[in-house]
Amino acid sequence: MQSHLACFNPACRARFDINDVLYNCTACGGLLEAKYSFDAIDQAALKKTWRERRMDNAPLSQSGVWRYREMFPFLDDMRHVVTLREGNTPLLSGPRAAAYGGLAAISFKHQGFNPTGSFKDNGMTCGAAQARRLGMKRVACVSTGNTSASMAAYASAGGLDPLIFIPHGNISYGKLAQALEYGAKTFQAEANFDQILALVRVLAERLGIYLLNSINPFRIEGQKSIVIEMMDQRDWRTPDWIVLPGGNLGNVSAFGKGLREMHEVGLIDRMPRLAVIQAEGSSPFYEYMAARGAAPFRAQEHPETLATAIKIGDPVSWPKAQFEIESSKGTVERVSEQEIADAKAVIGQCGIGCEPASAATLAGIRKLTAAGIIDRDADVVAVLTGNVLKDPDYIYRYHTSQLQAPNGTAILPTFGNKPILVPNDPDRITELIG
Ligand code: F0G
Repeated sequence: MQSHLACFNPACRARFDINDVLYNCTACGGLLEAKYSFDAIDQAALKKTWRERRMDNAPLSQSGVWRYREMFPFLDDMRHVVTLREGNTPLLSGPRAAAYGGLAAISFKHQGFNPTGSFKDNGMTCGAAQARRLGMKRVACVSTGNTSASMAAYASAGGLDPLIFIPHGNISYGKLAQALEYGAKTFQAEANFDQILALVRVLAERLGIYLLNSINPFRIEGQKSIVIEMMDQRDWRTPDWIVLPGGNLGNVSAFGKGLREMHEVGLIDRMPRLAVIQAEGSSPFYEYMAARGAAPFRAQEHPETLATAIKIGDPVSWPKAQFEIESSKGTVERVSEQEIADAKAVIGQCGIGCEPASAATLAGIRKLTAAGIIDRDADVVAVLTGNVLKDPDYIYRYHTSQLQAPNGTAILPTFGNKPILVPNDPDRITELIG
Protein backbone atom coordinates (compact mmCIF):
# COMPACT_ATOMS: atom_id res chain seq x y z
CA MET A 1 0.00 0.00 0.00
CA GLN A 2 1.39 3.37 -1.01
CA SER A 3 0.93 6.50 1.03
CA HIS A 4 -2.49 8.03 0.57
CA LEU A 5 -4.83 10.54 2.17
CA ALA A 6 -7.75 9.27 4.23
CA CYS A 7 -10.72 10.88 5.89
CA PHE A 8 -10.26 11.02 9.65
CA ASN A 9 -13.99 10.54 10.30
CA PRO A 10 -14.40 6.89 11.43
CA ALA A 11 -17.82 6.70 9.79
CA CYS A 12 -16.36 7.68 6.39
CA ARG A 13 -12.66 6.82 5.93
CA ALA A 14 -12.78 7.79 2.24
CA ARG A 15 -9.39 7.46 0.51
CA PHE A 16 -7.72 9.95 -1.79
CA ASP A 17 -4.54 10.11 -3.79
CA ILE A 18 -1.56 11.58 -1.96
CA ASN A 19 -1.28 14.20 -4.71
CA ASP A 20 -4.87 15.43 -4.51
CA VAL A 21 -5.03 19.08 -3.51
CA LEU A 22 -7.55 18.63 -0.71
CA TYR A 23 -7.91 19.94 2.83
CA ASN A 24 -11.20 18.23 3.72
CA CYS A 25 -12.90 15.01 2.68
CA THR A 26 -15.00 15.52 -0.45
CA ALA A 27 -17.48 12.89 0.76
CA CYS A 28 -18.25 14.08 4.30
CA GLY A 29 -16.25 17.27 4.91
CA GLY A 30 -14.10 15.60 7.60
CA LEU A 31 -10.42 16.25 8.27
CA LEU A 32 -7.81 14.40 6.22
CA GLU A 33 -4.71 12.53 7.31
CA ALA A 34 -1.80 10.87 5.56
CA LYS A 35 -1.70 7.07 5.85
CA TYR A 36 1.12 4.61 5.19
CA SER A 37 1.90 0.98 5.67
CA PHE A 38 4.69 0.61 8.22
CA ASP A 39 4.89 -3.19 7.86
CA ALA A 40 8.43 -3.22 6.56
CA ILE A 41 9.87 -1.17 9.41
CA ASP A 42 12.62 -2.71 11.52
CA GLN A 43 12.56 -0.46 14.58
CA ALA A 44 16.02 -1.40 15.88
CA ALA A 45 17.67 -0.73 12.51
CA LEU A 46 15.79 2.53 12.17
CA LYS A 47 16.92 3.80 15.58
CA LYS A 48 20.49 3.09 14.55
CA THR A 49 20.09 4.85 11.18
CA TRP A 50 18.63 7.91 12.88
CA ARG A 51 21.57 8.10 15.32
CA GLU A 52 24.04 7.79 12.47
CA ARG A 53 22.37 10.59 10.56
CA ARG A 54 23.10 12.96 13.45
CA MET A 55 26.77 12.70 12.51
CA ASP A 56 26.18 13.04 8.80
CA ASN A 57 26.55 16.43 7.09
CA ALA A 58 23.94 15.84 4.36
CA PRO A 59 21.20 18.50 4.65
CA LEU A 60 18.45 15.88 5.03
CA SER A 61 20.31 14.20 7.87
CA GLN A 62 21.04 17.53 9.55
CA SER A 63 17.36 18.38 9.55
CA GLY A 64 15.72 17.29 12.81
CA VAL A 65 12.62 16.60 10.75
CA TRP A 66 13.80 14.79 7.61
CA ARG A 67 16.22 12.66 9.63
CA TYR A 68 13.07 10.77 10.68
CA ARG A 69 11.51 10.64 7.21
CA GLU A 70 10.74 6.91 7.38
CA MET A 71 7.85 7.85 9.69
CA PHE A 72 6.26 10.15 7.09
CA PRO A 73 7.17 8.65 3.71
CA PHE A 74 4.79 10.72 1.61
CA LEU A 75 7.37 12.29 -0.69
CA ASP A 76 8.56 10.46 -3.80
CA ASP A 77 11.43 12.80 -4.62
CA MET A 78 13.55 14.36 -1.88
CA ARG A 79 14.66 17.14 -4.22
CA HIS A 80 11.40 18.89 -3.35
CA VAL A 81 12.54 19.37 0.25
CA VAL A 82 13.25 22.86 1.53
CA THR A 83 15.25 22.64 4.74
CA LEU A 84 16.57 25.36 7.03
CA ARG A 85 17.88 22.61 9.38
CA GLU A 86 14.68 22.75 11.42
CA GLY A 87 14.09 20.63 14.51
CA ASN A 88 17.20 19.72 16.52
CA THR A 89 15.56 21.42 19.48
CA PRO A 90 16.83 20.64 22.97
CA LEU A 91 15.32 19.03 26.03
CA LEU A 92 16.11 21.36 28.93
CA SER A 93 15.63 20.94 32.65
CA GLY A 94 14.34 23.79 34.80
CA PRO A 95 14.40 23.03 38.52
CA ARG A 96 12.80 26.33 39.47
CA ALA A 97 9.98 25.78 36.99
CA ALA A 98 9.53 22.21 38.21
CA ALA A 99 9.08 23.44 41.80
CA TYR A 100 6.65 26.11 40.62
CA GLY A 101 4.69 23.49 38.69
CA GLY A 102 4.52 21.19 41.74
CA LEU A 103 6.87 18.63 40.20
CA ALA A 104 10.12 17.05 41.35
CA ALA A 105 11.55 17.61 37.86
CA ILE A 106 10.49 18.90 34.47
CA SER A 107 11.86 18.72 30.99
CA PHE A 108 11.16 21.42 28.39
CA LYS A 109 11.23 20.49 24.71
CA HIS A 110 12.04 23.95 23.40
CA GLN A 111 10.70 24.41 19.89
CA GLY A 112 11.72 28.06 20.06
CA PHE A 113 15.20 26.92 18.99
CA ASN A 114 13.87 26.39 15.46
CA PRO A 115 15.09 28.54 12.50
CA THR A 116 12.12 30.92 12.69
CA GLY A 117 11.69 30.49 16.44
CA SER A 118 8.66 28.21 16.70
CA PHE A 119 7.45 24.62 16.28
CA LYS A 120 5.80 25.60 13.00
CA ASP A 121 9.07 24.97 11.17
CA ASN A 122 8.79 21.22 11.81
CA GLY A 123 5.54 21.13 9.88
CA MET A 124 6.28 23.81 7.35
CA THR A 125 9.28 22.04 5.86
CA CYS A 126 6.92 19.18 4.93
CA GLY A 127 4.11 21.46 3.74
CA ALA A 128 6.52 23.41 1.54
CA ALA A 129 7.95 20.18 0.10
CA GLN A 130 4.47 18.98 -0.85
CA ALA A 131 3.67 22.38 -2.40
CA ARG A 132 6.77 22.08 -4.59
CA ARG A 133 6.00 18.49 -5.49
CA LEU A 134 2.52 19.55 -6.61
CA GLY A 135 4.05 22.28 -8.77
CA MET A 136 2.38 25.07 -6.81
CA LYS A 137 3.65 28.60 -7.30
CA ARG A 138 1.89 30.43 -4.47
CA VAL A 139 1.19 29.38 -0.90
CA ALA A 140 -1.07 31.06 1.66
CA CYS A 141 -2.00 30.92 5.31
CA VAL A 142 -3.88 32.78 7.99
CA SER A 143 -1.90 33.05 11.15
CA THR A 144 -1.63 34.33 14.68
CA GLY A 145 1.98 35.01 13.69
CA ASN A 146 4.18 31.95 13.92
CA THR A 147 2.75 30.00 11.01
CA SER A 148 3.13 33.08 8.83
CA ALA A 149 6.74 33.68 9.90
CA SER A 150 7.56 30.07 9.19
CA MET A 151 5.66 29.87 5.91
CA ALA A 152 7.29 33.07 4.68
CA ALA A 153 10.75 31.66 5.35
CA TYR A 154 10.21 28.21 3.84
CA ALA A 155 8.30 29.52 0.82
CA SER A 156 10.95 32.11 0.04
CA ALA A 157 13.76 29.61 0.60
CA GLY A 158 12.01 27.20 -1.77
CA GLY A 159 11.17 29.66 -4.55
CA LEU A 160 7.45 29.86 -3.78
CA ASP A 161 5.48 33.11 -3.34
CA PRO A 162 4.10 33.44 0.21
CA LEU A 163 0.78 35.23 0.82
CA ILE A 164 0.00 35.88 4.45
CA PHE A 165 -3.24 36.92 6.13
CA ILE A 166 -3.15 38.10 9.73
CA PRO A 167 -5.70 39.63 12.11
CA HIS A 168 -4.90 43.34 12.10
CA GLY A 169 -3.44 44.53 15.41
CA ASN A 170 -3.55 41.08 16.96
CA ILE A 171 -0.16 39.57 16.38
CA SER A 172 3.14 40.45 17.97
CA TYR A 173 5.54 42.71 16.10
CA GLY A 174 8.30 40.14 16.24
CA LYS A 175 6.22 37.75 14.14
CA LEU A 176 4.93 40.40 11.74
CA ALA A 177 8.50 41.62 11.28
CA GLN A 178 9.62 38.12 10.30
CA ALA A 179 6.93 37.83 7.62
CA LEU A 180 7.96 41.15 6.12
CA GLU A 181 11.65 40.38 6.28
CA TYR A 182 11.25 36.96 4.66
CA GLY A 183 9.47 38.63 1.78
CA ALA A 184 5.84 37.58 2.19
CA LYS A 185 3.02 39.60 0.68
CA THR A 186 1.27 40.42 3.94
CA PHE A 187 -2.42 41.28 4.29
CA GLN A 188 -3.68 42.58 7.61
CA ALA A 189 -7.40 41.84 7.66
CA GLU A 190 -9.95 43.53 9.90
CA ALA A 191 -11.26 40.20 11.21
CA ASN A 192 -10.25 37.51 13.67
CA PHE A 193 -8.28 34.33 12.93
CA ASP A 194 -11.33 32.12 12.44
CA GLN A 195 -13.02 34.55 10.06
CA ILE A 196 -9.83 34.98 8.06
CA LEU A 197 -9.36 31.22 7.74
CA ALA A 198 -12.75 31.02 6.00
CA LEU A 199 -11.71 33.91 3.75
CA VAL A 200 -8.37 32.33 2.84
CA ARG A 201 -10.02 29.02 2.00
CA VAL A 202 -12.23 30.81 -0.53
CA LEU A 203 -9.24 32.63 -2.03
CA ALA A 204 -7.10 29.48 -2.18
CA GLU A 205 -9.83 27.68 -4.09
CA ARG A 206 -10.52 30.62 -6.40
CA LEU A 207 -6.90 31.44 -7.22
CA GLY A 208 -5.36 27.97 -7.08
CA ILE A 209 -3.13 28.85 -4.15
CA TYR A 210 -1.88 26.08 -1.88
CA LEU A 211 -3.09 26.42 1.70
CA LEU A 212 -0.47 25.82 4.38
CA ASN A 213 -2.51 26.10 7.57
CA SER A 214 -2.45 23.11 9.93
CA ILE A 215 -5.56 21.77 8.20
CA ASN A 216 -3.03 20.77 5.55
CA PRO A 217 -2.24 17.12 6.42
CA PHE A 218 1.43 17.44 5.43
CA ARG A 219 2.01 20.09 8.11
CA ILE A 220 0.78 17.55 10.64
CA GLU A 221 3.18 14.93 9.25
CA GLY A 222 6.13 17.23 9.86
CA GLN A 223 5.01 18.16 13.35
CA LYS A 224 5.06 14.46 14.29
CA SER A 225 8.85 14.76 14.20
CA ILE A 226 8.73 16.84 17.41
CA VAL A 227 7.71 13.78 19.42
CA ILE A 228 9.89 11.42 17.39
CA GLU A 229 12.96 13.55 18.07
CA MET A 230 11.89 13.89 21.72
CA MET A 231 11.81 10.10 22.10
CA ASP A 232 15.14 9.69 20.33
CA GLN A 233 16.67 12.24 22.74
CA ARG A 234 15.18 10.30 25.66
CA ASP A 235 16.61 7.00 24.37
CA TRP A 236 13.02 5.90 23.67
CA ARG A 237 11.87 6.12 27.30
CA THR A 238 8.27 7.31 27.21
CA PRO A 239 7.40 10.13 29.62
CA ASP A 240 4.23 9.94 31.70
CA TRP A 241 2.89 13.20 30.30
CA ILE A 242 3.49 15.52 27.37
CA VAL A 243 1.96 18.94 27.96
CA LEU A 244 1.38 21.50 25.22
CA PRO A 245 -0.64 24.65 24.55
CA GLY A 246 -3.70 24.37 22.31
CA GLY A 247 -4.94 26.88 19.74
CA ASN A 248 -6.02 25.49 16.39
CA LEU A 249 -5.20 22.03 17.83
CA GLY A 250 -2.96 20.90 14.97
CA ASN A 251 -0.01 20.20 17.22
CA VAL A 252 -1.78 17.88 19.64
CA SER A 253 -3.22 16.07 16.61
CA ALA A 254 0.29 15.63 15.23
CA PHE A 255 1.72 14.48 18.58
CA GLY A 256 -1.05 11.90 19.04
CA LYS A 257 -0.64 10.53 15.52
CA GLY A 258 3.15 10.40 15.81
CA LEU A 259 3.03 8.62 19.16
CA ARG A 260 0.44 6.08 18.02
CA GLU A 261 2.48 5.29 14.94
CA MET A 262 5.69 4.94 16.96
CA HIS A 263 3.84 2.58 19.27
CA GLU A 264 2.49 0.60 16.32
CA VAL A 265 5.95 -0.04 14.88
CA GLY A 266 7.52 -0.80 18.26
CA LEU A 267 9.70 2.31 18.63
CA ILE A 268 8.07 2.95 22.02
CA ASP A 269 6.48 0.41 24.33
CA ARG A 270 3.74 2.56 25.82
CA MET A 271 1.85 5.78 25.11
CA PRO A 272 2.36 8.93 27.19
CA ARG A 273 -0.70 10.93 28.25
CA LEU A 274 -1.30 14.21 26.43
CA ALA A 275 -2.41 17.38 28.20
CA VAL A 276 -3.58 20.41 26.22
CA ILE A 277 -3.69 23.78 27.93
CA GLN A 278 -5.81 26.67 26.66
CA ALA A 279 -6.09 30.30 27.72
CA GLU A 280 -9.29 30.95 29.69
CA GLY A 281 -10.63 33.56 27.25
CA SER A 282 -9.99 31.32 24.29
CA SER A 283 -10.89 27.84 25.44
CA PRO A 284 -13.62 26.28 23.27
CA PHE A 285 -11.91 22.88 23.35
CA TYR A 286 -11.64 22.93 27.14
CA GLU A 287 -15.36 23.78 27.40
CA TYR A 288 -16.30 21.01 25.01
CA MET A 289 -14.20 18.34 26.71
CA ALA A 290 -15.31 19.43 30.19
CA ALA A 291 -18.95 18.88 29.14
CA ARG A 292 -18.09 15.21 28.44
CA GLY A 293 -20.41 14.82 25.51
CA ALA A 294 -23.32 16.69 27.10
CA ALA A 295 -23.04 19.50 24.53
CA PRO A 296 -21.82 19.67 20.94
CA PHE A 297 -18.58 21.47 20.08
CA ARG A 298 -19.28 25.19 20.11
CA ALA A 299 -16.94 27.79 18.63
CA GLN A 300 -16.20 30.91 20.66
CA GLU A 301 -17.07 33.97 18.62
CA HIS A 302 -14.83 36.48 20.38
CA PRO A 303 -11.79 34.70 21.76
CA GLU A 304 -9.54 36.87 23.92
CA THR A 305 -6.07 36.36 25.34
CA LEU A 306 -2.78 38.20 25.51
CA ALA A 307 -1.22 34.92 24.38
CA THR A 308 -2.15 35.92 20.85
CA ALA A 309 -0.64 32.76 19.34
CA ILE A 310 -3.56 30.76 20.78
CA LYS A 311 -6.29 33.36 20.35
CA ILE A 312 -8.52 31.03 18.31
CA GLY A 313 -12.23 30.45 18.90
CA ASP A 314 -12.98 27.85 16.24
CA PRO A 315 -10.09 25.37 16.12
CA VAL A 316 -10.31 23.30 12.95
CA SER A 317 -8.61 20.17 14.29
CA TRP A 318 -10.81 19.62 17.35
CA PRO A 319 -12.09 16.18 16.21
CA LYS A 320 -8.52 14.92 15.87
CA ALA A 321 -7.54 16.54 19.16
CA GLN A 322 -10.48 14.91 20.94
CA PHE A 323 -9.46 11.52 19.59
CA GLU A 324 -5.85 11.95 20.69
CA ILE A 325 -6.73 13.21 24.17
CA GLU A 326 -9.19 10.38 24.74
CA SER A 327 -7.03 7.61 23.30
CA SER A 328 -4.01 8.72 25.35
CA LYS A 329 -6.13 9.09 28.53
CA GLY A 330 -5.06 12.70 28.54
CA THR A 331 -6.69 15.86 29.75
CA VAL A 332 -7.49 19.47 28.86
CA GLU A 333 -7.01 22.42 31.23
CA ARG A 334 -7.35 26.16 30.98
CA VAL A 335 -5.39 28.92 32.67
CA SER A 336 -5.88 32.62 33.37
CA GLU A 337 -3.91 35.54 31.96
CA GLN A 338 -2.22 36.05 35.34
CA GLU A 339 -1.28 32.37 35.53
CA ILE A 340 0.25 32.46 32.04
CA ALA A 341 2.21 35.64 32.79
CA ASP A 342 3.66 34.33 36.05
CA ALA A 343 4.53 30.91 34.64
CA LYS A 344 6.25 32.64 31.75
CA ALA A 345 8.38 34.73 34.11
CA VAL A 346 9.38 31.59 36.03
CA ILE A 347 10.46 29.88 32.79
CA GLY A 348 12.45 33.03 32.09
CA GLN A 349 14.11 32.83 35.52
CA CYS A 350 15.37 29.36 34.55
CA GLY A 351 17.39 31.04 31.80
CA ILE A 352 15.13 29.42 29.24
CA GLY A 353 12.33 31.82 28.31
CA CYS A 354 9.45 31.40 25.88
CA GLU A 355 6.56 33.30 24.37
CA PRO A 356 3.26 33.69 26.29
CA ALA A 357 1.33 30.80 24.67
CA SER A 358 4.15 28.39 25.51
CA ALA A 359 4.00 29.32 29.19
CA ALA A 360 0.42 28.06 29.37
CA THR A 361 2.08 24.63 29.72
CA LEU A 362 3.71 25.36 33.08
CA ALA A 363 0.64 27.25 34.32
CA GLY A 364 -1.46 24.22 33.38
CA ILE A 365 0.95 21.79 35.02
CA ARG A 366 0.72 23.79 38.25
CA LYS A 367 -3.06 23.39 38.21
CA LEU A 368 -2.97 19.72 37.23
CA THR A 369 -0.50 18.77 39.99
CA ALA A 370 -2.56 20.74 42.54
CA ALA A 371 -5.64 18.81 41.42
CA GLY A 372 -3.78 15.49 41.73
CA ILE A 373 -4.15 14.70 38.03
CA ILE A 374 -0.39 14.82 37.42
CA ASP A 375 1.71 13.22 40.19
CA ARG A 376 4.54 15.18 41.76
CA ASP A 377 7.00 12.49 40.71
CA ALA A 378 5.66 12.13 37.20
CA ASP A 379 8.02 12.25 34.24
CA VAL A 380 6.71 15.33 32.40
CA VAL A 381 7.80 16.98 29.15
CA ALA A 382 6.35 20.45 28.53
CA VAL A 383 6.61 21.71 24.99
CA LEU A 384 7.66 25.34 24.69
CA THR A 385 6.30 26.27 21.30
CA GLY A 386 7.88 29.68 20.66
CA ASN A 387 11.00 31.73 21.36
CA VAL A 388 11.18 34.35 24.13
CA LEU A 389 11.89 37.12 21.59
CA LYS A 390 8.66 36.57 19.66
CA ASP A 391 6.78 39.00 21.92
CA PRO A 392 9.14 41.38 23.77
CA ASP A 393 6.42 43.97 24.27
CA TYR A 394 4.52 41.58 26.55
CA ILE A 395 7.67 40.97 28.59
CA TYR A 396 8.46 44.65 29.05
CA ARG A 397 4.91 45.41 30.12
CA TYR A 398 4.84 42.55 32.63
CA HIS A 399 8.07 43.54 34.31
CA THR A 400 7.11 47.23 34.43
CA SER A 401 3.56 46.68 35.76
CA GLN A 402 1.93 47.81 32.52
CA LEU A 403 0.44 44.52 31.35
CA GLN A 404 -3.34 44.40 31.23
CA ALA A 405 -5.62 41.46 30.48
CA PRO A 406 -7.97 41.96 27.49
CA ASN A 407 -10.79 42.88 29.93
CA GLY A 408 -8.67 45.68 31.40
CA THR A 409 -7.64 43.88 34.59
CA ALA A 410 -4.05 44.65 35.58
CA ILE A 411 -1.67 41.69 35.50
CA LEU A 412 0.44 41.75 38.67
CA PRO A 413 4.20 41.45 38.12
CA THR A 414 4.53 38.66 40.71
CA PHE A 415 8.01 37.91 39.42
CA GLY A 416 8.63 41.39 38.05
CA ASN A 417 12.12 42.60 37.32
CA LYS A 418 11.98 46.31 36.45
CA PRO A 419 14.92 48.05 34.81
CA ILE A 420 16.45 50.64 37.14
CA LEU A 421 17.13 54.15 35.88
CA VAL A 422 20.45 55.39 37.24
CA PRO A 423 22.44 58.61 37.00
CA ASN A 424 25.90 58.51 35.47
CA ASP A 425 27.42 58.34 38.95
CA PRO A 426 29.55 55.38 40.20
CA ASP A 427 28.98 56.25 43.88
CA ARG A 428 25.24 56.28 43.53
CA ILE A 429 25.29 53.00 41.51
CA THR A 430 27.58 51.34 44.07
CA GLU A 431 25.11 52.33 46.75
CA LEU A 432 22.24 50.84 44.74
CA ILE A 433 24.04 47.53 44.07
CA GLY A 434 25.04 47.30 47.71
N1 F0G B 1 2.03 28.00 20.65
C1 F0G B 1 2.40 28.88 19.72
C2 F0G B 1 3.60 29.71 19.99
C3 F0G B 1 1.66 29.02 18.53
O1 F0G B 1 2.06 29.89 17.60
C4 F0G B 1 0.52 28.21 18.34
C5 F0G B 1 -0.29 28.34 17.12
C6 F0G B 1 0.18 27.31 19.34
C7 F0G B 1 0.96 27.22 20.48
C8 F0G B 1 -1.00 26.43 19.21
O2 F0G B 1 -0.78 25.36 18.35
O3 F0G B 1 -2.66 25.74 16.79
O4 F0G B 1 -1.38 23.61 16.78
O5 F0G B 1 -2.90 24.15 18.69
N2 F0G B 1 -0.13 29.22 16.25
C9 F0G B 1 -0.83 29.25 14.96
C10 F0G B 1 -0.25 30.33 14.07
C11 F0G B 1 -2.28 29.21 15.02
O6 F0G B 1 -0.96 30.85 13.20
O7 F0G B 1 0.92 30.64 14.20
P1 F0G B 1 -2.00 24.67 17.59
